[in-house]
Amino acid sequence: MRLAVYPGSFDPITYGHLDVIARARDVFDQLIVAVLINTRKAPSLDADVRAEMIAEAIAEVLGPSAAAETEVITFQGLTVDLARTRGASSIVRGLRALSDFENELAIAHLNRKLAPSIDSVFFMTGIEHSYLSSSLVREIAAFGGDVSAMVPSSVARRLVPDRHA
Ligand code: PNS
Repeated sequence: MRLAVYPGSFDPITYGHLDVIARARDVFDQLIVAVLINTRKAPSLDADVRAEMIAEAIAEVLGPSAAAETEVITFQGLTVDLARTRGASSIVRGLRALSDFENELAIAHLNRKLAPSIDSVFFMTGIEHSYLSSSLVREIAAFGGDVSAMVPSSVARRLVPDRHA
């Protein structure tokens, strides 16, 4: 049984993340999507809300069986500790472009130092998602822009700015 964790901020989940989830599901028997309860950067959405949005997005885009089979959790602390606790052999991350590589390489090497038996596995997102980032989605949504090509409708709905606030 090959179990992997896919950690991230997912603030919010995008079609790029969903592409990685779909690819990882094809390779691993079981995937846990793990939302970081961020202590360093202040996320725009609460971790529980981000996890709820991920579960809805998986159901909408990848179907109900993918949603039933993919565990979505929140976590604090080190990704390798989570992987160890859950018995995962791999940490999944996505690569959109060369610019992601340097940072991901550093994280992967540090994680390997901390936990030599856990490997990092990278999936290249589809080229159509290579420009997508959660921060740009947040910015566009905050100014009332159309994010329907970037996130599923279940996510877009939650990003609509409250004009009466
Ligand atoms: O979606 P992000 O913000 O690029 O995800 C970054 C994440 C959550 C994968 C990374 O910050 C992480 O693993 N944080 C948990 C703390 C940890 O394990 N740090 C050591 C990695 S060097």
